[in-house]
Amino acid sequence: MKHKPFLDKKGLIKALEGHFTLEWTGLHGAPHWARVRSYGLELCGLCDADRQVVELFSFLHDCCRQNDLHDPLHGKKAADFAMTLNSVYFRVNNRQMEMLYFAIAGHSDGLLHHDPTIQTCWDADRLDLVRLGIEPNPRYLSRLAATIAMKNRQSVANLRLESGPLRVQGIL
Ligand SMILES: [Fe+2]
Repeated sequence: MKHKPFLDKKGLIKALEGHFTLEWTGLHGAPHWARVRSYGLELCGLCDADRQVVELFSFLHDCCRQNDLHDPLHGKKAADFAMTLNSVYFRVNNRQMEMLYFAIAGHSDGLLHHDPTIQTCWDADRLDLVRLGIEPNPRYLSRLAATIAMKNRQSVANLRLESGPLRVQGIL
């Protein structure tokens, strides 16, 4: 019997295109989600986090933003929205849905969490703060993520040295 994937990625992205009201390629749009996914999956390879939850977090956590600045309710709205999509575009169990809900709802509260899945979601989002010109603060990252942030800082510094103006593609 063929194994059914847990996520209908095409279907989910199409649904998000219809739902997301900000610029698709803007600060909190699809390119950010893709980088959060990439950071998240990198971290999943190094710790005990749930890859499915981390991947879903990347696509969903900012999808209910109404603006790119102060929007304190966007996490809770996105967590509620994510619940309506389970069994439609993805299939996760109750425990995974609880973690996904908590991670999305609290992702912009500046907290740390002992659960590796929830912290990995938040780490992945915070590592992409560099796109806003903000260096991620190790105080709000797991030790693993802080190591990646340090590596990225060195890569950016090296690029500056090598090529003058910063080439952002592939890093930011
Ligand atoms: Fe984000």
